[in-house]
Amino acid sequence: MDLYEAIEKRRTIRIFQEPATEEQLRKILLSGSKAPSAINSQPWEFIIVEDQSIIAQLADIKHKVTLSMPTKTEEDREKVEKRAAAQKASFNNASIVTVCGKVGGAKSVWLAIENISLAAVAEGLGSGIVLYPKDEMDKIGELLGLPSGYEPAAVLKIGVPGEKGHSRDKNPYSPRRPDFSWLHKDRFRAK
Ligand SMILES: Cc1cc2nc3c(=O)[nH]c(=O)nc-3n(C[C@H](O)[C@H](O)[C@H](O)COP(=O)(O)O)c2cc1C
Repeated sequence: MDLYEAIEKRRTIRIFQEPATEEQLRKILLSGSKAPSAINSQPWEFIIVEDQSIIAQLADIKHKVTLSMPTKTEEDREKVEKRAAAQKASFNNASIVTVCGKVGGAKSVWLAIENISLAAVAEGLGSGIVLYPKDEMDKIGELLGLPSGYEPAAVLKIGVPGEKGHSRDKNPYSPRRPDFSWLHKDRFRAK
């Protein structure tokens, strides 16, 4: 698949039909490891999580974090509850990979995450990123036995998509900004 096509096709997937195969995962993670990194430090570590009790904890922590989002109205509360349930369910039927890295290496680790997201598309799969607040990230680090000097960057779900993902301008968080609305020349100019 052409790289531009993969970039265009990639969407966050939150419903999966089945996990990636071991062969697909290794191929995708290998692409992650080809990312550029500061002074070629390659600070990433990829933990494929197969233990169902750990996966359940990762899903539960995300559920709790999402539920704790403050709301003002009953309607907002219902939306948050729905979103929390969807975040939890998004761990079902997917391969789970926690991307970790050396403390201080996050910038390079995130380039690996983007490579992984695009390689998944090239492989005919979908992926989703899950982030947690700092305290929860620390708990996840402990859960996965990270040695000192390492921290989790994100939990990735990879697998056969069970949905198309949101269209670019119907994202529930916010629509994509218009093309080139982010482009400046010489100096930042407010539009
Ligand atoms: C740093 C980062 C953190 C994210 N955290 C989450 C998350 O915790 N849960 C989730 O469902 N999506 C998460 N996403 C996915 C974004 O919601 C998604 O990329 C955005 O809405 C744009 O949609 P698209 O990826 O389909 O283009 C995250 C993405 C990034 C880059």
